[in-house]
Amino acid sequence: MKKITLIAVLFCATIFNLNAQDNLTVPERQNLTIYGTMSLEDALEINESNPNEIEILATSDEEAAVNISEEATHLLHDLRGTHGPGYLNASNAIDAIKQIRHVRTERVQQMNFTISEGETVEMALGVINKSNIEAQIEELEGYGTRYHTTASAQRAAVDLKAKWEAMATTYGRNDISVRLVDHSNASDSTPMNSVVMTITGAELPDEFVIIGGHLDSTSSQGNNVAPGGDDDASGISVITEATRTLLEIGFVPKRTIEVMAYAAEEVGLYGSKDIASRYGQNNVNVVAVGQFDMANYKSSTKDVYFVSDTNAIDPTLTSFFKELLDTYHGSTSNDEITYSTTTCGYGCSDHRYWFENGYKTAFPFESSFSDFQQNNSIYHKNNDLMKNVPSGDATHAFKFAKLAVEYLIEVSKKSSLLSTPNFEEEGYELFVIDNILKFKSDRSRSAIKELKIYDVTGKEVLKKTSLGNSGKLSLNAFTAGAYVVNVVLDNKTQLSKKVILK
Ligand code: BES
Ligand code: ZN
Repeated sequence: MKKITLIAVLFCATIFNLNAQDNLTVPERQNLTIYGTMSLEDALEINESNPNEIEILATSDEEAAVNISEEATHLLHDLRGTHGPGYLNASNAIDAIKQIRHVRTERVQQMNFTISEGETVEMALGVINKSNIEAQIEELEGYGTRYHTTASAQRAAVDLKAKWEAMATTYGRNDISVRLVDHSNASDSTPMNSVVMTITGAELPDEFVIIGGHLDSTSSQGNNVAPGGDDDASGISVITEATRTLLEIGFVPKRTIEVMAYAAEEVGLYGSKDIASRYGQNNVNVVAVGQFDMANYKSSTKDVYFVSDTNAIDPTLTSFFKELLDTYHGSTSNDEITYSTTTCGYGCSDHRYWFENGYKTAFPFESSFSDFQQNNSIYHKNNDLMKNVPSGDATHAFKFAKLAVEYLIEVSKKSSLLSTPNFEEEGYELFVIDNILKFKSDRSRSAIKELKIYDVTGKEVLKKTSLGNSGKLSLNAFTAGAYVVNVVLDNKTQLSKKVILK
């Protein structure tokens, strides 16, 4: 009986699919006011129990494009309880059908992922700090809600921008900028901004390595209280601490790194959809996108579960993530991190539109999907707080932060051209402000005999001699980017410093 219904439904769906495409005439019943996509299983179940509340427009292997009633959204909620994968809104029938097709932009990419930065990674693992993650998760929980339409969500975005900017200042970096991304004119619009930090690559600035998570939150018990501690303050805190770690060790990447805190993920991936499609349209050369959404509720035996839905995840990048764990946290390591794979059934987070725009994505998740469904009772609830995860702290998220650091270092690669030790000699100061190089030293000390500036390719671009003990040089004539200043003192001491010009 059930089988016959199923076949009939699929048959009807195919016909509607054609109608929807060819004539744009989708049969509409008054009560069917909402378009969207959901899992095929849920759609079939609702169609059987409440056939008047749903019209299945088209199906793929796992998903259905549907036209449903308000009532059906409640049925779906009951069916699914509090657990994903949920329901994705669409503006109309065609949009819904397109979404389940996962039409992917073709992109040729010859990126070879390799592991070569062991020394840098070890240095980073020595300074990464769990309590920073804990402090930031609690800071983000403190907004009460980060539901995308609320003032506190926008405040969280503005504050995060300030936090990331302060990090760049603390570590004396002027190769870093942070911007807010406006989505008010996007097809799926939100008043909330995404936040993007850019660390400009010193050698391959046009190749982008992206890491992201979503800053917004939601609660099925009402969005006034949606602390989103695990979903996804944990991910934002993981990527922030990973980035801070890179800055603390003075890591200058060859490739450009972008750190993204997306707006309005919970209502349909709005922020990341807008950003990924803009990057796609501009053919930005993004070599990898790592997604960190929920990292702190351990409910499975293994530590990391790689989401491996073939319609949203790149197997090559995912294998590379596993290789990172094998290399830096293998079974013989004293910091073992175990892993397995899982699926969420569909594009359940921000990696989805990166994938659809043709980019390589990976998504390490906190547990297996089935264990998550069974155990994570705080998901999308008003008690999604760090104190309610099994460890009560950021023990689980800390593992993801290490993986995030390894991913960023090994994909962006350390720029060797700028690896000269910094100018460090007591009594000497050398720095750049507004593209003016200033140097100062006590007159009792050895004077500057020769000063040379090299660009990132190692080419000498400036040479000055007999500069005395203090002075200024305008570097306005140089194009923006990183340079190395090399100084020889009268007493033959050599000092170098990397500087970044705007
Ligand atoms: N963090 C979840 C996604 C998630 C949940 C991944 C469980 C893996 C396991 C995300 O914030 C979310 O809730 N997504 C929605 C779908 C989205 C497209 C609106 C969901 O899964 O219901
Ligand atoms: Zn999430």
